[in-house]
Amino acid sequence: MKHLLKMLDLSQEEIIDILNLADQLKYELKHGIPHPHLKGKTLGMIFQKASTRTRVSFETGMYQLGGYPLFLSSSDLQIGRGEPVQDTARVLSRYIDGIMIRTFEQKEVEDLAEYGNIPIINGLTDFSHPCQVLADLMTIREFKGSFDGLKMCYIGDGNNMANSLIVGGLKVGMAVSVATPDNYRPDKEVMDFAQKFDCFSICNDPMEAAKNADILITDVWASMGQEDEAQERRKAFAGYQINDDIMAVANKDALVMHCLPAHREEEITSKVFEEHAKEIFEEAENRLHAQKAVMVKLMA
Ligand code: CP
Ligand code: NVA
Repeated sequence: MKHLLKMLDLSQEEIIDILNLADQLKYELKHGIPHPHLKGKTLGMIFQKASTRTRVSFETGMYQLGGYPLFLSSSDLQIGRGEPVQDTARVLSRYIDGIMIRTFEQKEVEDLAEYGNIPIINGLTDFSHPCQVLADLMTIREFKGSFDGLKMCYIGDGNNMANSLIVGGLKVGMAVSVATPDNYRPDKEVMDFAQKFDCFSICNDPMEAAKNADILITDVWASMGQEDEAQERRKAFAGYQINDDIMAVANKDALVMHCLPAHREEEITSKVFEEHAKEIFEEAENRLHAQKAVMVKLMA
């Protein structure tokens, strides 16, 4: 594994290796055991979109690993004035040891990896959010003990989170069901991958998808960069909400997860959100541990 660009690139073994290391780093952190695996290394973090969790967890994580995190806002970089990503990649490769990037197009992340010669980590694109899904898988395993026999259900927009959850969930051996409006299905590349699995299903009925689910996950109806479509999306996604009716058809003890930020009373009710705050905020914490594992695997 040279980069973390999208879940489609990872094997089941690589995912499990990252999760095992993440569990170990979490244990070590909680028990005050230092783990300076990246002493003397620098991570550049390029942000073309806003972030709370990704920025703070990468920055803190790098510090805990003994390395130096460099926050690079695209509005301050020449990339924001049109310098090609291919050139940025070749320049930054000479100064730093790894790049985390949050941007719009997946191609930009793939280009960084192609033209640079240091590890590239995708901190979210319109297509995928692999760091989030590694943290989600870590959280599921932590709460449920293993992935065996679990059914994960995603309700909402076929966006970066849906794309990554579907692939990640299937790769670790869970059954995956999805409910999206017909016009907002996941990307073709992901559908082509998923449809090879008998344990994958997709429909436009949230109640049907949620039946007997062990994990229910949703995400915002309008992602970053889709602010102009918010009104139209509010209409299209009415009913694609995790609420008491959905919880009633899922398995007892089902987990509810959300990558955050959440829009209460849109994709999830405040009531369900607060009843499941325990796993939702553990999921947020696990961003730190999972990403530290990714950085150690790629950069140590
Ligand atoms: N879930 C997530 O990626 O959060 P941020 O946008 O705050 O980084
Ligand atoms: N789908 C959301 C995820 C945010 C973490 C977005 O891209 O804005």
